Amino acid sequence: AETFNGGKIFNDNCSACHIGGANILIEHKTLQKAALSKYLENYDIEPIQAIIYQIQNGKGAMPAFKNKLSYQEILEVAAYVFQKAETSW
Ligand code: HEM
Repeated sequence: AETFNGGKIFNDNCSACHIGGANILIEHKTLQKAALSKYLENYDIEPIQAIIYQIQNGKGAMPAFKNKLSYQEILEVAAYVFQKAETSW
């Protein structure tokens, strides 16, 4: 259920910029494991927390979602991104 909801939340809120785990605005800042590890602080220590932080607060051209998605939704989409990154999307 968690992955299903995460996938729907991703499609509705993220895929415009991150379809297939890509990044249409900043090409190298993908959602692949190597990029997350390189560009997200503490990804190698606490990957889910690192993704949650980025979704809540945004960064650069990426909007913040803390006033748009509930914490539960952010957690579910973060878990989805983590799982997809582990399997190379
Ligand atoms: C970066 C997730 C929505 C634009 C990232 C990163 C994550 C992420 C994990 C870090 C990737 C990296 O640095 O390699 C998400 C999720 C979204 C979402 C889960 C939906 C809830 C969006 C949307 C846009 C966007 C809608 C475009 C309007 C960007 C940009 C970056 C980025 C430009 C690079 C930020 C920087 O370091 O300057 N996103 N994103 N994201 N995202 Fe998103």
